[in-house]
Amino acid sequence: MFEKAVGDGVTITPLEVWHAQEFADHLDRAREHIRPWVGPRFVTDTVDDARSTLRRYATATAEDGARIYGLWDGGAIVGGVMFVAFDPVWGICEIGGWLEPGAVGRGLMSRSVDMLMQWAFEERGMARVEWRCRTDNDRSIATARRLGMRSEGVLRSSWVFEGRRYDKEVFALLRDEWAARRTGA
Ligand SMILES: CC(C)(COP(=O)(O)OP(=O)(O)OC[C@H]1O[C@@H](n2cnc3c(N)ncnc32)[C@H](O)[C@@H]1OP(=O)(O)O)[C@@H](O)C(=O)NCCC(=O)NCCS
Repeated sequence: MFEKAVGDGVTITPLEVWHAQEFADHLDRAREHIRPWVGPRFVTDTVDDARSTLRRYATATAEDGARIYGLWDGGAIVGGVMFVAFDPVWGICEIGGWLEPGAVGRGLMSRSVDMLMQWAFEERGMARVEWRCRTDNDRSIATARRLGMRSEGVLRSSWVFEGRRYDKEVFALLRDEWAARRTGA
């Protein structure tokens, strides 16, 4: 009911607890593709655990914190975006996202993150939007750069996957940089 068009026939809506079955079905399609790049707690195997993720976000949203949104294509979830962290007092938030393999390469992530940034900067008055990813996550880095974000540095040895440690890169866009992009400056 409360949805926006992302383009290419895909819509974005808030992901809520009652979407647990669709979310779990989507994770079955996305799991191995996203596992190296997203937090391990996010990559669940059962409907109950998928519901727990959505409940965790719902609780945070009720406190004006983290939020999660689903990308829907033909009645199925094909990916999503989230405010991993959202701090209206400091004016800082972090956005993240993921897609199942069939949804990659269509501009869905760039357009969805752009929507979240618009809301964060223009409606919520955020000063800074961050994007964090492994330094070897080429597609994620390309998305951050496509959105005009600037690399601010590398957090060495701060990501663990299958017993190996990886570096993580922090990207950010500031409110005046967002405004300049909007006016084409
Ligand atoms: C990171 C991830 C979300 C990026 O997905 P993506 O589809 O490459 O991202 P975008 O939405 O920015 O799409 C860009 C691609 O769509 C194309 N595209 C088509 N229409 C477009 C449009 N209107 N706007 C922008 N790009 C468009 C671009 O040319 C680009 O294609 P290319 O890769 O062949 O150059 C995806 O690779 C993924 O889910 N990875 C696993 C999970 C993950 O790493 N999440 C991020 C953790 S930090």
